[in-house]
Amino acid sequence: MTDIKLLAKNLSNIENEALDKIQSCNNLDRLKQLRSKYFGKDSDISKILSNIKYIRNNEEKKTIGEYSNKIKSNIQSQISDKEAILKNIQIEEEISRNIDISLNKFETNIGSLHPVTQMIDILVETFQYFGFSVVSGPEIETDWFCFQSLNLDINHPARDMQDTFYIEENHILPRTHTSSVQIRTMLNEKPPIRIIAPGKVYRNENQDQRHTFMFYQYEGLIIDKTTNISDLKSILTTALRNIFDNSDIELRLRHSFFPYTEPSFEIDATCMVCLGKGCKVCSNKGWIELLGAGMVHPQVLRNVNIDPNVYQGFAFGGGPERLFMVKNMIDDLRLFYENDLKFLSQFRKI
Ligand code: PHE
Repeated sequence: MTDIKLLAKNLSNIENEALDKIQSCNNLDRLKQLRSKYFGKDSDISKILSNIKYIRNNEEKKTIGEYSNKIKSNIQSQISDKEAILKNIQIEEEISRNIDISLNKFETNIGSLHPVTQMIDILVETFQYFGFSVVSGPEIETDWFCFQSLNLDINHPARDMQDTFYIEENHILPRTHTSSVQIRTMLNEKPPIRIIAPGKVYRNENQDQRHTFMFYQYEGLIIDKTTNISDLKSILTTALRNIFDNSDIELRLRHSFFPYTEPSFEIDATCMVCLGKGCKVCSNKGWIELLGAGMVHPQVLRNVNIDPNVYQGFAFGGGPERLFMVKNMIDDLRLFYENDLKFLSQFRKI
């Protein structure tokens, strides 16, 4: 056997042995030892390489040099691959040691319905018992639907009570009350009509405890041949008793004025805090004002092509916020629109 063949055989033995060892190696310290075993100064490969210089034949020298380099780089790359694998395993082990999988790592924070939405849901559900269907109308209205059709002509002084943000060009405006939905419904449907229409309304108001530029209303309307004020009173009494979950509540109708109802009323309910005795919540009156109402004005019926000699009915309107405030003794309307979770989360209901 020539020197070169012996060298090649030795190198190939070393390679086989190294690859075996690398393959069966299963920890990083051992891999480090293998690296120095095969590439350290005193390694067998180094020794063989240092003997190459004694080979006389240049051709042979070149061949064996190339062969040894190939073997070296093969062993080296096997070591690097193995190192990557072992490091990954180590990281995974560490992770599984340090994570308590029984911990609830991601706090779940489920939202809930806004108080106003909750109140609208109760309202709608309540009035559905009486056969009312739920309708909605546009928040951007024409002057006619919001005012003129409801007997509030262009220069009517009662418009002052509901100033809004007029857009002069098209006579459109953000609606100031949900009464516009009465008109839209009466134009679209034939009596008998029973609807409840919750939605947003907008007014030009300075913000204070009782005023915000946007708030909610619900509008109720019945049109048929016989419905009268005593029906108005009994339906609303039953509804409000249900909403406040209190069967002692009575209603009181006070004479009032709206251009679109005649007669018109403000409707008060027994103060549910003192049950009529008088307390801070009701300013010692024993009553709490809740909504406006009245028999639909004959001229309004005419405006929507309904014959007032045949049909009649009542309408009412109020704020769901007001109902929620009275029910939960809240004294500042602005709280509903500040998105303060400290306030809102008190009324969590999913
Ligand atoms: N639209 C009135 C308001 O905004 C409430 C109302 C509705 C009054 C229906 C009478 C009839 O104050």
